[in-house]
Amino acid sequence: MKPTGVKRRRLCVLGSTGSIGTQTLDVVRALDARFEFEVVGLAASGRRPDELARQIEEFRPGWVALARPDALQALQERLSPNALKATRFLVGDDALEQLVAESEPDLVVNGLVGAVGLRPTLAALERGIDVGLANKESLVVGGPLVRRALERGSAKLIPIDSEHSALFQLLQGRPSVEVARVVLTASGGALRDWPLERIPKARPEDVLRHPTWRMGPRITVDSATLVNKALEMIEAHWLFELPYERLDVVIHPQSVVHGLVELGDGSWLAHLSEPDMRIPIQYALTYPERAARRLAPFDLTGTPIALEFRPLERARYPAFGLVVEAGRRGGAYPAVANAADEVAVERFLRREIAFGDIPRLIEAVLAAYESASLASSGTPPDQLDLEDVLEADRWARARARLWKPPS
Ligand SMILES: NC(=O)c1ccc[n+]([C@@H]2O[C@H](COP(=O)([O-])OP(=O)(O)OC[C@H]3O[C@@H](n4cnc5c(N)ncnc54)[C@H](OP(=O)(O)O)[C@@H]3O)[C@@H](O)[C@H]2O)c1
Repeated sequence: MKPTGVKRRRLCVLGSTGSIGTQTLDVVRALDARFEFEVVGLAASGRRPDELARQIEEFRPGWVALARPDALQALQERLSPNALKATRFLVGDDALEQLVAESEPDLVVNGLVGAVGLRPTLAALERGIDVGLANKESLVVGGPLVRRALERGSAKLIPIDSEHSALFQLLQGRPSVEVARVVLTASGGALRDWPLERIPKARPEDVLRHPTWRMGPRITVDSATLVNKALEMIEAHWLFELPYERLDVVIHPQSVVHGLVELGDGSWLAHLSEPDMRIPIQYALTYPERAARRLAPFDLTGTPIALEFRPLERARYPAFGLVVEAGRRGGAYPAVANAADEVAVERFLRREIAFGDIPRLIEAVLAAYESASLASSGTPPDQLDLEDVLEADRWARARARLWKPPS
């Protein structure tokens, strides 16, 4: 017999084969009996057909979206006749939005990486479907569009990024006038203790060795440049409707304190937990309630742990200031900075450019955007629509692919 008060919700997981996606499914498998999820939709690019096939066999989602048409056959070959019969496949450019519409979820977890996450976030919010948002690029690229969709409809946006989940919990119901400052913590990434002169020559294998978190490749590289934290500042600006002057970043190597709020009277609030993404994922799934299950218990006295907070060394992280400045300028600048960084990271991981070239590439693409007619004669920044930001994103990607390191 089912316990009384069980909540059964229909869940769609975008980016189900990635770091956030697989951890979301781990949380679903282990939730306490008060919460029950039916996985009705899964989406991935198609690079990991074995993993996606396993998920389809286990959860029987009904609808599956794939970005790459050439990956469909490889996926279908791995499925049992029963799973094949029970699954409808969507492929191509609009597949993610179609999945959100067709699978009729109550909650979408967006664990996609990159600007591709924006359209399905908007599609869900506009249909009144709640979104658990890990894909920070949705707010970086389309912050004003996401805000407008939230204001028009009844859907909720629950952050999954650990810092934003922490701040979301600390700020619950607190009027903005009481909040003096919101502080995001940063581990400092894999190179935080390297001598400054060695950093520009760091190799992918050095940068991908994150000290505290296990994550996908883009965010791990972005943690070493601190572009990730700059994107998170922009994300926090739109999520909590706070001006940049009231947002700050500190380096906190232990990744135990995820967010801090300074109140007007000088009191501080902090959120602590083990660095384990399943904790904010579980909170987003059960919000506004909390699961009783402790995923990664934090032992306050077991292992003595000194919590350190250091100011951010700008010289160590030159890309950070560039991306925050793009956020402050608004309009399509954050979309341009994000696209330039996405391409820079891909090119660095393919060993086409050096680690030290990442900020150079971002700076060059932002400067080119500023001088291009696109920036000056276009639509006013606060009136940009989806097509405007996607056009800026495409333009910046093309530019970033052509950029050559100084010889
Ligand atoms: N990982 C973390 O711990 C963490 C923490 C905080 C925030 N975030 C944020 O969460 C987001 C996801 O990060 P991640 O680390 O989970 O990335 P990831 O491991 O690289 O996973 C990305 C997922 O998106 C899918 N995907 C990529 N392009 C797609 C497309 N065009 N259409 C459909 N699916 C596509 C991938 O499918 P394939 O497997 O087929 O390529 C994969 O399932 C990012 O915005 C990141 O900043 C992550």
